[in-house]
Amino acid sequence: MCGIVAAAARREVSEILLEGLRRLEYRGYDSAGMALINDQNVLQIHKRNGKVKELEAAQAQEPFYGNTGIAHTRWATHGKPSTENAHPHASGGRVALVHNGIIENHAELRAELIAAGYEMSSATDTEVIAHLLHLSLQKGASLRAAMQNTIARLEGAYALAAIDIESPHTVVGARKGSPLVVGVGIGENFLASDQMALRQVTDSFIYLEEGDLVEISPASIQICTIDGEAIERPTTRIKEALETSDMGDFDHYMIKEIFEQPVALEATLAGAANVEQVEECFGHGASAMFDRVTNVQIVACGTSYHAGMVARYWLEELAGISCEVEVASEFRYRKRVQHEGTLLVAISQSGETADTLAALRNATEGEFIGSLVVANVDNSSLVRECDLVFLTRAGAEIGVASTKAFTTQLVAMLMLTLALGRRRGMTDERQSEIIEALENLPHYVRQTLELNGAIQKLSEAFIPKRHALFLGRGIQYPIAMEGALKLKEISYIHAEAYPAGELKHGPLALVDDDMPVVAVAPNDELLEKLKSNLEEVRSRGGELFVFADREAGFANEDRVQVLPMPHCPEVIKPIVYTVALQLLSYHVALQKGTDVDKPRNLAKSVTVE
Ligand code: M6R
Repeated sequence: MCGIVAAAARREVSEILLEGLRRLEYRGYDSAGMALINDQNVLQIHKRNGKVKELEAAQAQEPFYGNTGIAHTRWATHGKPSTENAHPHASGGRVALVHNGIIENHAELRAELIAAGYEMSSATDTEVIAHLLHLSLQKGASLRAAMQNTIARLEGAYALAAIDIESPHTVVGARKGSPLVVGVGIGENFLASDQMALRQVTDSFIYLEEGDLVEISPASIQICTIDGEAIERPTTRIKEALETSDMGDFDHYMIKEIFEQPVALEATLAGAANVEQVEECFGHGASAMFDRVTNVQIVACGTSYHAGMVARYWLEELAGISCEVEVASEFRYRKRVQHEGTLLVAISQSGETADTLAALRNATEGEFIGSLVVANVDNSSLVRECDLVFLTRAGAEIGVASTKAFTTQLVAMLMLTLALGRRRGMTDERQSEIIEALENLPHYVRQTLELNGAIQKLSEAFIPKRHALFLGRGIQYPIAMEGALKLKEISYIHAEAYPAGELKHGPLALVDDDMPVVAVAPNDELLEKLKSNLEEVRSRGGELFVFADREAGFANEDRVQVLPMPHCPEVIKPIVYTVALQLLSYHVALQKGTDVDKPRNLAKSVTVE
């Protein structure tokens, strides 16, 4: 959510900053800007409403250069997307600053600064930070001291990077509540909100901790507390190959990522050929902690929350362990009563989602026996702060709509079910069945991907529609929810999911011949009940699109289109059916001409509350 890149180098950095923004754009794309200090020590700024390509065009038209600079791609919180509200924000022609996060006391600071003679030129909460810095610099503070003075006045969350023409080779940054990393170069150093922005220039990173302040120059990196006390932070060398943001032969990241799922699932499953090995995937100390678990509390947001909802069925039914699942933004503000022996499980693709992180931090002493995160990004905040970590191996997910991250999260949660289940009497036979189903999962996902053409055809019926209903029963209810989220997120069709049995308690009133109803119908014990629910829809003129097991006995008929799904083991059906629903959303969005990878108003990583 918003992206920051900054550089202090001995070479020209405008292209490095722009490339960093291109790599970060999936996190926010309302407007973009860049500020550089040139060799005459003059501050130059380009800001543009719209995507990074608008900023590139501005730079191509009126190029400017420098060795020290900051850049930003924005996802609007305070103030609409516009050139004025784009970052960097400058003050007194001297200092410029970029910010991720939200400053809660901005109104009070704004009034104070206006009284001190500052003119506001934006509606953002960020501009006050630039003026506070300027005020402090004008009183003679160094850039670092000015940053210390400034952040002492801020309430809320921030990752910041600032430059000052009086310190033309330095960038100062600070973090609280929003991530910031230092990219360590040779004769040059960088800051970014996500290491991915800097993989083009370095593979060495220092992950700043909450409350850290950092000053970088081409030759040095100094980290200290807000009180100026020096701190050492380790440098981590990233080993894996550069994760390019290359779309290959695909038209969008989303479809590329949907098709990457067999490989992502294989990578996530690698090495888990038996239950003992499954446990090793959760890291050192997992076994001892799992021995003490009697309950599970899952917290997550969006798609990751749906993964948690599926996991509840598995944990309770297969492992016999009680499980609660809650949206992190609610959990964090609720007075809670936990059972003894509860493990807190956070699920987050990015590992940076502010609400999920806050839920973890909000856990009180002794409330949980420990914390586990299922994340896709190593070294992310949740990964660093949880006791146990399961890293899904989905690879970088660029499309805002989560696809391969979700299915690999489900694999992780099924592996947790195995690990906890064997402690609660899950039979060896059952364990082997689940492991075998997991091993065969990539095969069934490949079979589902072969339905791409048929799903594309089916998707045509949705183009003129404004609403859609998704139905599922049991463990397929959260899959229906995920299908509805995917459709609304990228095609802007209003979609809602219901457990099919709830239909007659209200939503049936919405059903008419203009309401497509998608049903997730594996051949499970609830099939007959689901069939009755679907009849309720049909008899009211609703048009049904049934994703059904080949052997479930559904056939195409008037106002019923059936997509025959591979017949696969029960336990992995939620994962397999998800893939088909992802394809449905993708094709609907494609035909509606929306921006599939960067849907309006959304951002990949939601690092604000
Ligand atoms: O990075 P996280 O998994 O914590 O993100 C949570 C949600 O913001 C995310 O899943 C969101 O709902 C996706 N855009 C859905 O496709």
